[in-house]
Amino acid sequence: MKFFIDTANLEQIKEAQALGVLDGVTTNPSLMAKEGITGADNILKHYVAICNIVDGDVSAEVIATDFEGMVKQGEELAALHPQIVVKLPMISDGIKACKYFFDKEIRTNVTLVFSAGQALLAAKAGATYVSPFIGRLDDISTDGLKLIEEIRLIYDNYGYETQILAASVRHVMHIMNCAQIGADVITAPLSAIEGLLKHPLTDSGLATFLADYNKGNK
Ligand code: G3P
Repeated sequence: MKFFIDTANLEQIKEAQALGVLDGVTTNPSLMAKEGITGADNILKHYVAICNIVDGDVSAEVIATDFEGMVKQGEELAALHPQIVVKLPMISDGIKACKYFFDKEIRTNVTLVFSAGQALLAAKAGATYVSPFIGRLDDISTDGLKLIEEIRLIYDNYGYETQILAASVRHVMHIMNCAQIGADVITAPLSAIEGLLKHPLTDSGLATFLADYNKGNK
């Protein structure tokens, strides 16, 4: 399973990269705004800065909601750096743009996916990644992980190569459940990725080992 970090914060991206387990980055306009990155030029520069930190795929989202606008912005984003994946919203023109970019061999991530039907359509349009938002479904009392299961089954039934990128991942158990279901990728905040490290028996066991070593080496 690939690990992406879901942030536009360069320090957190560097930290995850230093851990040695990072396969890519996802961003969205809200995450950019959270870091105070505004204005088209600054946003484009920020994508390049992210690409220069990580080795893997970096999703960069179009703002246009019409086909021509998405194609124009997507081509501009893809030309920025070979690691860029064009992120498109799951709407009718987004699907048309997805097929357009597939034919041009430009990689895409179809975002804001909340149903298996949407994921099926994105796969048929040749999306590289599809991003179901599990946390936001949980937020409205709908089982986000069930959606990952449904998409996994459908993609396996037909051999679709579109990768399931579980998004809106909020905590360690989301990551662990996605791994058991067979999501291809999770994108999560640094706190959730680092949460995988933690176990109280690891901490107490290490403390005992060090104390015993120090006793014997006095
Ligand atoms: O990857 C999508 C993500 O950024 C949305 O997460 O926590 O805002 O639902 P959240």
